[in-house]
Amino acid sequence: MDKIEITNTGAEASSSAPAKKKRIFSAIQPSGAMTFGNYLGAIRNWVRLQDEFECVYATANLHAITVRQDPKKLKENTVNLFALLIASGVDPEKCILFNQSMVPAHAELSWVLSTFTQFGELSRMTQFKDKSARHADNINAGLFTYPSLMAADILLYQADLVPVGDDQRQHLELTRDIAVRFNGIYGNTFVVPEPYITKNAARVRSLLDPSKKMSKSDPNTKSYILMVDEPASIMKKFRSAVTDSEACVRYAEGKDGINNLIEIYSACTGKSYEEIEDEFRGKGYGDFKNAVGEAVVAELEPIQVKYKELLKDKKYLDELAQKGAESASKLAKRTIDKVYKKVGLVR
Ligand code: TRP
Repeated sequence: MDKIEITNTGAEASSSAPAKKKRIFSAIQPSGAMTFGNYLGAIRNWVRLQDEFECVYATANLHAITVRQDPKKLKENTVNLFALLIASGVDPEKCILFNQSMVPAHAELSWVLSTFTQFGELSRMTQFKDKSARHADNINAGLFTYPSLMAADILLYQADLVPVGDDQRQHLELTRDIAVRFNGIYGNTFVVPEPYITKNAARVRSLLDPSKKMSKSDPNTKSYILMVDEPASIMKKFRSAVTDSEACVRYAEGKDGINNLIEIYSACTGKSYEEIEDEFRGKGYGDFKNAVGEAVVAELEPIQVKYKELLKDKKYLDELAQKGAESASKLAKRTIDKVYKKVGLVR
């Protein structure tokens, strides 16, 4: 892969463009290997948004420590996610890509915003309720105030739009409430962000139980595809995906297994459901599953090659991370300076 020239970031250049692009912010927690669901649901989308919008993307490692982490693993997961995003096509020339912990303004604004976030509001967050049930031995204050940090991420960059999945909708709503509240007290300070809904974003389901979302926390590794899975393993997992007894490739109610495979195939090939039904008319599920597996391999293989290549050059990755953090810090500084001044915090 050609190295990216890191003297100038596209994001800086585009701020002087005549028609101002809307700004997008999004982040992903470095929680280990990403699934194909993460790819189709978020990562590939990030790549597609880069031309139309001014994008600011982060690895959310400060969020990750709300659940106890092994320090070595966390660091490794962060570097790996950073590299995987670039390998997937997130282009540090076109957007700002950085690690959250490298821009201290996130922690600073998070503290200020936590004083504009009510206990009652945080208590209503379904993710907090879920996570505190799952980690009953470590219900720490950070897990509770997690949404204030997420609000800080978004509001620091004055983002207009935030692409989020259903599980983060409530946090984005709270971010909007915090922004409106702060603006109401101190005058216009934050852009109030809107959710960015992707048309036809594939929601990838478990290969073994399509009533569930594809998730790497599933104990059965055959239920999910990891972005770094070997092609042979991907093919095998698709061959063992659950279907039904009708032996007809068509998108219909009650055919959740086949519907999931059709959605995946459609997302990879760009073919419509009708085209897919035509393609496999009269053919068995075996042929179809092979085709889906091959389409997924075709999507992931080039990413895997770039990913491995990038990881060999830690110094280069580090330079990109530094550069990204610098660009992010410049934008973040404007907001945090304004906020400190308005609140009356001496600098
Ligand atoms: N909380 C998000 C998640 O777990 C990650 C995240 C952190 C995020 N900060 C964000 C997403 C800001 C969107 C905007 O998926």
